[in-house]
Amino acid sequence: MSYLNLERDGAIATVTISRPDKLNALDQSVLEQLHSTFDGLLRSVNAPRVVILTGAGKAFVAGADISAMSELTPTQAKAFADLGHRLGALFERAPFPIIAAVNGFALGGGCELALACDFIYASDKAKFGQPEVKLGVIPGFGGTQRLARRIGLGRARELVYTGEIISAAMALQIGLLNAVYPAEELMPKVHETARKIAETGPLAVSAAKRVLLRGESMSLTSANELEATAFAALFGSEDQREGMKAFIEKRGATFKGR
Ligand code: COA
Repeated sequence: MSYLNLERDGAIATVTISRPDKLNALDQSVLEQLHSTFDGLLRSVNAPRVVILTGAGKAFVAGADISAMSELTPTQAKAFADLGHRLGALFERAPFPIIAAVNGFALGGGCELALACDFIYASDKAKFGQPEVKLGVIPGFGGTQRLARRIGLGRARELVYTGEIISAAMALQIGLLNAVYPAEELMPKVHETARKIAETGPLAVSAAKRVLLRGESMSLTSANELEATAFAALFGSEDQREGMKAFIEKRGATFKGR
């Protein structure tokens, strides 16, 4: 059974999680399908420049599948968490940015999935939260760590300890989201941003993604060194020559990703 739809519009790919009868809850099968789909996109000779991740129906993802988790032993729970973490790591390793287009509930594993994306746009109908403590557990797919890095420790503690579900407006206010739009404008706005990214230098965006992410867990000195090295490496690329030549010649650049 396939729980994912993959659409391609030029350089932009859209992955839609589609298990609407269970509000797109993540069981082992959905997680494995996400993993193999993103792995395929990553390895493709015609890899997309940007990927949009969204959900079908009224949810983005209402969490890890509670029915599937209810009987897990600690060993099985560790394997399940590891699978979620491998997916987050894959999102971060991808050379292309991944934009979460959160159309509805993003709870528990759904919020964690969005947090593993590069940034989040949401519909005004979206709701966010890490309600795991209400089930007697904690976030297991990176929620404690990526949430704290995104919105700060104090706010993350409050959300994780209370399990409170917040509106898109509140999520925007605390820095979890980049933007909120009326539901019908969400996908057009996400596509607009994706197209802007797709017109830029592929090697540059992928280097920026790597440096921004790796730098976050480094000292400022080491992170700045990483930046300088990545900046310099781009000067060995055709894209750098083309980008700067195009500017000087007052024309649009044609990047080749090499
Ligand atoms: N895991 C498994 N099934 C889930 C699920 C989850 N995380 N979230 C929703 N579902 C299922 C429901 O069990 C229901 O299935 P059923 O029709 O077979 O009974 C179906 O999806 C629809 O959900 P329902 O609760 O009827 O929708 P609602 O609009 O009344 O409520 C929520 C929506 C999101 C508030 C509610 O579904 C909910 O609280 N979900 C769990 C959220 C959560 O704790 N997530 C963190 C998990 S770690």
